[in-house]
Amino acid sequence: MFRILALALLGSLAVTPVFADTDDQRWAGNIEMNGFKLDTFEDFASKWNLVTVRYRVDSGEFRFTYANPLAEKHLRAGKTDYPDGAVFAKVSYVLSNDPIFTSSMTPEKVQRYQLMVKNKKKFGATDGWGYALFNANGKTYPGEPQAVSMACAACHKIAAERGGVFSSPIEPLRHYFNDKKPSAEKRVQSRAYAPKFEAMKVEQLPKDLRDLLPKDMKTVRSLQGDLRKNIFQGTLDEVRPFLAAESLRSGAPAILLSQEGLRFSIVYQAQGTTGGCSFGGDRKGLSMISILTLQKASPFSEDTAYISTDGDSSLSKKQEFCFVQEP
Ligand code: HEC
Repeated sequence: MFRILALALLGSLAVTPVFADTDDQRWAGNIEMNGFKLDTFEDFASKWNLVTVRYRVDSGEFRFTYANPLAEKHLRAGKTDYPDGAVFAKVSYVLSNDPIFTSSMTPEKVQRYQLMVKNKKKFGATDGWGYALFNANGKTYPGEPQAVSMACAACHKIAAERGGVFSSPIEPLRHYFNDKKPSAEKRVQSRAYAPKFEAMKVEQLPKDLRDLLPKDMKTVRSLQGDLRKNIFQGTLDEVRPFLAAESLRSGAPAILLSQEGLRFSIVYQAQGTTGGCSFGGDRKGLSMISILTLQKASPFSEDTAYISTDGDSSLSKKQEFCFVQEP
């Protein structure tokens, strides 16, 4: 089992229209999702503890995760049965170099806010967590809320054995200052819910997609499970490291194809090159191609350049990126 170290987008190769938009713009711009507003938990960042920080190699973002006291207590105890009322709030920042010391990256501006609120009864369909996603201005993105929530839950199922929560707590300084021994990190490591791949014939793929692929490809590895049923734009972007790892392992392209066959994210090794690329100085990676469907103004893609031939939002993008994995 290898761990993905880094993924960097090296630039767009081409942008091709592919499929009709299935998303619904009219859900964008609201201040409420699933009954939550960003200020439902007003000023959470100064009231709750920061429980962990993550750096995302796929998006190059910092993620700061705060937990209300109830959620934090359970997280630190290594418990996974989060009670009703537990809340996690995650803030994503884009980074920029500090001009006076450029190897030091600083969180520059908020990109989006995400909430997870436990209520087993109300949010039974999404494993007891109510999900909410807002842009930097506290407004919702396109997408019918229940469908987006299902997409959130589908990926958070990967962390089912941590109660649907990815975060593991970092040690709070408070332990040091109170002269207490820090508790050992309790991270549930089980991979029972690891996404599985199955072989699929290229003929089974939608025609528009086949036309974009190199002609000699015969089979692909298709990611199975709930992620196929519930997809939103973030899923297609974020799943690329998984797909890259599977593609390299199997030698075939790896795809996440939505159940109805309209939306996808596919990754395969770049052909006609030596395959090598350098990632951040000395680290060597492999050149991979990513093609995924896009939607205009969809979450996580505010900075993407779009080309639309028909004036609406049926798009896909093809990019080359450098993928680094641990042996
Ligand atoms: C493709 C996978 C994926 C999808 C889809 C996804 N998440 Fe997450 N989520 C993660 C990962 C991985 C983390 C760990 C922190 C990080 O890497 O940003 C996380 C962390 C979080 C956290 C902090 C608590 C925790 O689990 O660590 C919140 C809150 C959250 N996500 C909300 C959402 C919401 C709301 C949605 C849907 C709009 C969503 N997530 C969709 C993968 C996903």
